[in-house]
Amino acid sequence: MSLQSAAAPAAASSTTRPSMVAAHHPIYGDASVVILAPTARPKPHEGEVLVAVHASSVNYGDQVMLTGRPWLVRLVFGLRRPKRRLLGIDVAGVVAAVGPGVTDFAPGDRVFGQSEGAWAELATVPAKALAHLPDGVPFAAAGAVPLAGMTALQGLRDHGRLRAGERVLINGASGGVGHLALQVAKALGAHVTAVVSARNVAQARALGADVVVDYTRQDFTATDARYDLILDVAGSQPLRACRRLLQDGGRYVSTVGNLRFLLKLVVARLFWRNLGFFNQRADAADLHTLAGWLADGRLRPVVERSYPLDKVADALAAFAHGPNGAKTLIVR
Ligand SMILES: NC(=O)c1ccc[n+]([C@@H]2O[C@H](COP(=O)([O-])OP(=O)(O)OC[C@H]3O[C@@H](n4cnc5c(N)ncnc54)[C@H](OP(=O)(O)O)[C@@H]3O)[C@@H](O)[C@H]2O)c1
Repeated sequence: MSLQSAAAPAAASSTTRPSMVAAHHPIYGDASVVILAPTARPKPHEGEVLVAVHASSVNYGDQVMLTGRPWLVRLVFGLRRPKRRLLGIDVAGVVAAVGPGVTDFAPGDRVFGQSEGAWAELATVPAKALAHLPDGVPFAAAGAVPLAGMTALQGLRDHGRLRAGERVLINGASGGVGHLALQVAKALGAHVTAVVSARNVAQARALGADVVVDYTRQDFTATDARYDLILDVAGSQPLRACRRLLQDGGRYVSTVGNLRFLLKLVVARLFWRNLGFFNQRADAADLHTLAGWLADGRLRPVVERSYPLDKVADALAAFAHGPNGAKTLIVR
């Protein structure tokens, strides 16, 4: 994987403002189109915070923005070329400056949240998508959490209406979203069945799953067990088979971003009221909840592999190739 360090067109404005290094993708493509280039230092606008980035991680959303696939997303991100050329969503770091109207954060604060352009030395983040990071929580842990953790929390608590004592099955409980969902479900007081591949059985047990199903040996839908909620992160089984596993009033919630699977969900939703799918949204209060669990040890992100910022293209190539395990980290 070659990583260019040449100046990108965006570097032109760096003559008027001090510059920093950031990952760009001037065109859609695979990891080879990503360049690390000098870029004008961002300025925090009204309601924004400038963060010196210490850690970030790779999410499917980054992959979608990089490749422009599925094609439908180009209606939002730019038809022929990406409108937004900076990459990286998750951010953990230290506040460098605040924009007008920001009162909750000050330079020097340790924070984490969701940005547009986190694979850089500095990133601007809306204050409403940022939370303080408790002392003792390493940036490397916090950088793995924002988007995937928010998806897990909102999927289980808000869309799945999971309550303490209920039984939840998480299909895909070892990946970026799933291994955090497993721990979030435990923190919410649920009984958790984790569906993972053989290589992740021990991890699921160590993270607190009450029951672990190895999908390479057992079909989780061929069982008499019943659940109050299925959180489907993998979308590997027919919806009809999943529905059969639910108690009366049981819910099914999917995070799966695959277009074909989404179409199936849209059709099934016409006949199945307790079926949900959603897009996570950045939310400071939810980040605060996750920060508390990071601090008290109930949330322990698993880092599968870690890359320095100047090897971000290698990280993306490895992520596209898989298998991905839990999280792929990008650190300063
Ligand atoms: N809606 C939202 O807001 C939102 C946010 C984030 C992500 N997403 C979507 O959520 C999905 C998962 O994201 P992610 O980052 O967690 O992906 P990931 O890290 O690749 O995880 C995928 C999971 O699926 C499991 N899996 C693969 N094949 C399986 C099978 N046949 N049966 C059961 N499990 C299987 C994997 O288990 P093994 O590794 O053990 O094989 C792994 O646990 C993606 O579609 C992504 O686009 C949606």
